[in-house]
Amino acid sequence: MDAIILAAGKGERLRPLTENRPKPLIPIAGKPILDHILERVESLVDNIYIIVKYKKEKIIERYKDREKIEFLEQGEIDGTGEALLTAKDYVDKEFLVINGDIIFEDNLEEFLKFKYAIGVKEVEDPKNYGVLVVKNDKIIDLEEKPENPRSNLINAGIYKLDSKIFDILENIGLSERGEKEITDALKILIKEKDVKAVKLKGFWSDIGLPWHVLEANKYFLDKIKRDIRGEIEENVVIKGDVIIEEGAKVRANSVIEGPAIIKSGSVVGPLAYIRPYTVLMENTFVGNSSEVKGSIIMKNTKIPHLSYVGDSIIGENCNFGCNTITANLRFDDRPVKVNIKGKRVESVRKLGVIMGDNVKTGIQVSFMPGVKVGSNSWIGASCLIDKDIERDTFVYKRDSLIFKK
Ligand code: UTP
Repeated sequence: MDAIILAAGKGERLRPLTENRPKPLIPIAGKPILDHILERVESLVDNIYIIVKYKKEKIIERYKDREKIEFLEQGEIDGTGEALLTAKDYVDKEFLVINGDIIFEDNLEEFLKFKYAIGVKEVEDPKNYGVLVVKNDKIIDLEEKPENPRSNLINAGIYKLDSKIFDILENIGLSERGEKEITDALKILIKEKDVKAVKLKGFWSDIGLPWHVLEANKYFLDKIKRDIRGEIEENVVIKGDVIIEEGAKVRANSVIEGPAIIKSGSVVGPLAYIRPYTVLMENTFVGNSSEVKGSIIMKNTKIPHLSYVGDSIIGENCNFGCNTITANLRFDDRPVKVNIKGKRVESVRKLGVIMGDNVKTGIQVSFMPGVKVGSNSWIGASCLIDKDIERDTFVYKRDSLIFKK
């Protein structure tokens, strides 16, 4: 049995986090989404084919030494169906297919019992997903983003298929958005074959939007167990399940409240405050009187002094000037709105800033809730950022207030 993992997409809805990395490499609870997926499939299959295209070198670099893994590059046409077709001449007759941007808890053994199966997840609001109509465990219909969903079961992006799917894919056209899509092929498959619905019982999330990253991060942090291996100086308070890796250092008088992960090479404090659901990736620095809560800080980022970062995702190699502050809550308590591919979308009640890589802020920079800052941008001293900033932008105040005597 083989597995195919689809990891070639551009992840546009997750910009700026995907400006420099493919979506499957976004870290959740301290490791990439793809690591979480591989943990679930590696022991079940003989070979794993990862379909790559966008930023492929980063995926290959990370997994090139893993025994069962091979990389296949998708051709020019976009779409999940085109991605799957890439593996046509490589896989066994029967195989598992998994979207490279989902994170889930269930064991996939159940799928192996059936010739054809689709993973389904029960959700409260199925409108934005592929909705499946199921009768006696058999899938009888599939509708993409229906106005009036006929069930609460959505397509979870995990399939057990055989080579018949390639014949169907080769004979279907492109969808309205010009892509070859797996779901179009599945609609044909369910009419011709007995396709089982495998209900996922544990946590499942499709990581399509920035706040999905933080929600999944929270869920998986709740599962960690306390493990302190780094160097801890005097008067440090560490409460709850906190992982401090070897090579990390917590300096005097800092407070860390779990669940939280502090990865190797990172320095916290003196006098820093790390609050629950925070992950500090490798070689980060949160210094004097800085507070980080519910956030993912990617590697090599420095937040040296007097800053607050809440419910945010901060890319790699960023540097925060003294007193850089994120707002994460509206006065009216309504969901924070975020621009997603040109539309204002309601997210969650608490959301801070979503920042790409290599961003620098000057002293006293503030961010309003839900703003996105593109990679390599510089934000000059004293700016209040209330709109998204494109990548490679220098934002500064033109007329400073200088009073002469
Ligand atoms: P999505 O449509 O959710 O991912 O595809 P995307 O296209 O990367 O994201 P957006 O819509 O631009 O924000 C589901 C899975 O299929 C893979 C993606 O990498 C993702 O894991 N995929 C998608 C491919 O492998 N190739 C494609 O051409 C499209």
